[in-house]
Amino acid sequence: MRIGILFCSCGGTISEKLDLKKVEDFAKTLEDVVIVETVDVFCENPDKILEKFKGKIDRFIFAGCSERSSLKMGEEKLSDLLERIGVNKAMIETVNLREQCAWIHDNIDGATRKAMDQLLMSYVKVKTNIPQGNVKLEKRALIVGAGVTGLRCASDLAKAGIETVIVERKPYIGGHTSMIPMLFQCEGYASMCTSECIVPVMGREIQKEGITLIMNAEIIDVEKDDGNFKVKIEKKAMPVDPAKCVSCGKCSEVCPVEIDNPFDFGLTKRKAIDKDFSLAMPDSYTIDLDSCNKCGECIKVCPTNAINLEAKDEIVEETFGAVVIATGFEGYDMNKFKKLNYSHPNVVTMLELERLIKNNFNGKVPESVVFVLCQKDEVGYCSKLCCPITAKLAFRLAVLYQSMDITVVYKNLRTYGRAFEEFRRKCEMQGVEFVNSEVEEIKVDGDTLLVVTEDENLEADLVIVADPLIPSAIRLMKMFGVKLDEYGFPIEFQPRIITPMETYVDRVYAAGMARSFKDIQESVESGSAAAMKVYEALKDGVKKLQKYVSMVNSDKCIGCGICRETCPHSAISVDENLKSKVNPGFCKGCGLCTSVCPTGAIQVMNFEDWQLLRQIDVAFTHAKPGEKRVLALLCYWCSYAAGDLMGRYGLKLPTNFRSIRVRCSASVSNWVILKAIMDKKVDAILVAGCPPKNCHHLYGNEMEDKRITSLRMIMPEIGLDENAVRWEYIGVGMWKKLANVLQKMCS
Ligand code: FES
Repeated sequence: MRIGILFCSCGGTISEKLDLKKVEDFAKTLEDVVIVETVDVFCENPDKILEKFKGKIDRFIFAGCSERSSLKMGEEKLSDLLERIGVNKAMIETVNLREQCAWIHDNIDGATRKAMDQLLMSYVKVKTNIPQGNVKLEKRALIVGAGVTGLRCASDLAKAGIETVIVERKPYIGGHTSMIPMLFQCEGYASMCTSECIVPVMGREIQKEGITLIMNAEIIDVEKDDGNFKVKIEKKAMPVDPAKCVSCGKCSEVCPVEIDNPFDFGLTKRKAIDKDFSLAMPDSYTIDLDSCNKCGECIKVCPTNAINLEAKDEIVEETFGAVVIATGFEGYDMNKFKKLNYSHPNVVTMLELERLIKNNFNGKVPESVVFVLCQKDEVGYCSKLCCPITAKLAFRLAVLYQSMDITVVYKNLRTYGRAFEEFRRKCEMQGVEFVNSEVEEIKVDGDTLLVVTEDENLEADLVIVADPLIPSAIRLMKMFGVKLDEYGFPIEFQPRIITPMETYVDRVYAAGMARSFKDIQESVESGSAAAMKVYEALKDGVKKLQKYVSMVNSDKCIGCGICRETCPHSAISVDENLKSKVNPGFCKGCGLCTSVCPTGAIQVMNFEDWQLLRQIDVAFTHAKPGEKRVLALLCYWCSYAAGDLMGRYGLKLPTNFRSIRVRCSASVSNWVILKAIMDKKVDAILVAGCPPKNCHHLYGNEMEDKRITSLRMIMPEIGLDENAVRWEYIGVGMWKKLANVLQKMCS
């Protein structure tokens, strides 16, 4: 064991507040420490400074600024620098001499004693750490959904050299976009473009090497294996081989079976063998097997022998290193809103109106239409797009059918952005009437419909109801282990403001409308963003495992599966021998599994309970006799950062507290807390975690809150003072609250 220790005086800001020389001399006395260096400003020339350690050490302690909050030497940078001189990232520990020591105390003696203890805690830890390795990742991505989001994602990935497989449920690409004849650009500049251009352009973009398109297919099972996804794909029978079909249409001409075309909501007909629409891609005819009578006439006329009516479903298994879920949206079942009378043929949704316009209302153009907006109160959220789409559709109708009487009934009109607002203004200029009222009912009145509002009754030949958009991929997301909100949309990984593409499962990205409400341009942007994330994850074909990963002692595991159910990252499975198995490529080392394991079989590597206890054992080695010993166990993300901000903003605290940066607050078990108190190693313990709804592991903070509450309830029964343990929700910005709590506990 060869430990190197580097002290940085941070331009004197540390050394003027504590006796750094004394701490350095103490470091030199520690067993297995082979080099101790002190520099003035490490971040000025880190590579050169670390050269002195190269080849001489296998473990490293950096004592200076906070690895969590330093604006110049964050943990990732430090770990990259050390990797260059051959030190494994798990064999590095830091000592926060600046934010939570020198900057926060005005007592040189106390700060020096605390610095020595903090060094000792890192020293005992680094001696027990285990090096961490890599897992191999398949350098190929699965994209579920061939709408504009999935197409753009695949195209961008192909350009970056990452292989993709697109799985699409329908026989054509383009998703809902292909059903909308006229697309409106909606960022800064209001203009139009036709889907008959856009979708084929995007379709041609994916006709490149490295992209495989599997149509008529669904994901039926997902298994995680170390770092990869093993995915079972059910390919529905494809009686027409798209590779052979030349789209001549002879099969359709002789087909005797005519059915409603679902692409046009039954407004038009298609043959059992046909194309849903002329520009459908892949450019191949398809057979509706439910209606085909297998007469074989199509086979006789096919010039390329592309048809095989005996084709069967097939299941294939593929392995991927990353997944993009881009399944678009679904419309609400409008029959649930009885007052809207959706079962009436002249009450339609916005998408149905798109197809009606495309087919010129089958020659029966209505004289009056009423748009009915907003069911947000009923579904619990605003779908964001209904108002803008209504503005667009009303404008389009007004331009196409000048004499049409058009009214929009709304509750709160939200035409966000510049272009949609412009459509609204243009609507008004075209004579569209906007009525601010609540619709009470849509009644049938002879041949017309009556839209009954709070204020008036509006007659209409056709009523268009805005259908709320609902999640399209609940079953699929659950298969991948993605956590969903109360409505079924994926919850983004915290901090979600800066990781909007990521779910709680490593390398599963939700994009486009599968994530949240987006117009077409936003969906395409989201496809590109997902591609960038996939590229970043797969470019090297390996995932460097993080320092902290859970591991199972199978001798102790009883296969109860509680860890699997608790894991927010879907990283744990239970194998055929009924033993839990951690898939390390997905584990975030939060420690939630550890805290719920009834037999102590699962622990976080490099953050095991006994390691934490060993740190606690030495935490007050240099405390003055009789001094109250307060230990702050601060969660890795929010609370520890709040601790750093106390120092950065110049608050001054007593020197008798020590802090440890734990994993998620839930990683601190009651057993560790009790042992520390009963062994008289500490007098009081604070456990602090992220604010509610902000835990980086979803619900770890709430688990810990409940656990400590129940611990405090039993403490008096075993002769302990419950006030020795305290739980607090401390967000980054709550550093003043943390300081107040510590002040009280230290006194
Ligand atoms: Fe902060 Fe869970 S990560 S409490």
